[in-house]
Amino acid sequence: MKVAFGCDHAGWKLKDDIFKYLLENRISVSDYGTHSSESVDYPDYAERVCRDIIDAQADMGILICGTGLGMAIAANKFKGIRAVTVCDEFSAEMARAHNDANVITFGSRVIGPGLACKILDRFLNTSYEKGRHQHRLNKIAGFESGAEKSII
Ligand code: RB5
Repeated sequence: MKVAFGCDHAGWKLKDDIFKYLLENRISVSDYGTHSSESVDYPDYAERVCRDIIDAQADMGILICGTGLGMAIAANKFKGIRAVTVCDEFSAEMARAHNDANVITFGSRVIGPGLACKILDRFLNTSYEKGRHQHRLNKIAGFESGAEKSII
């Protein structure tokens, strides 16, 4: 598995622990920064990570900002990206199993490194179940192209 990583100056605080987890688990990572606490704009990092996934240079993305929310909002503007902000292990599992999420976002001002790594572990080690979930994801993909119309 190959992972693309990005964070802003707020998310940078969690970076060391996330990288320690990735290293220990021999997960290959492309690190797009940021590399310091100097203020930057989180959409730039979300874009870089999402483009790696879209170009098949990465299987999954990890994005960290202060809340995880701005990163998720930015990432979900990219076609084919399903980004989720997760604060618990159950949601991490469901985001993969039912939603085939390909980007996880964390808020460094929301959760600590121990929980973030547990959540990440569950996320990266859960497979998408396909089956009944696929036509729902197809509908979401239809929203991106403007093809999908509500039936209710
Ligand atoms: C930066 O202060 C903060 O706004 C950013 O990290 C993020 O939380 C935005 O969603």
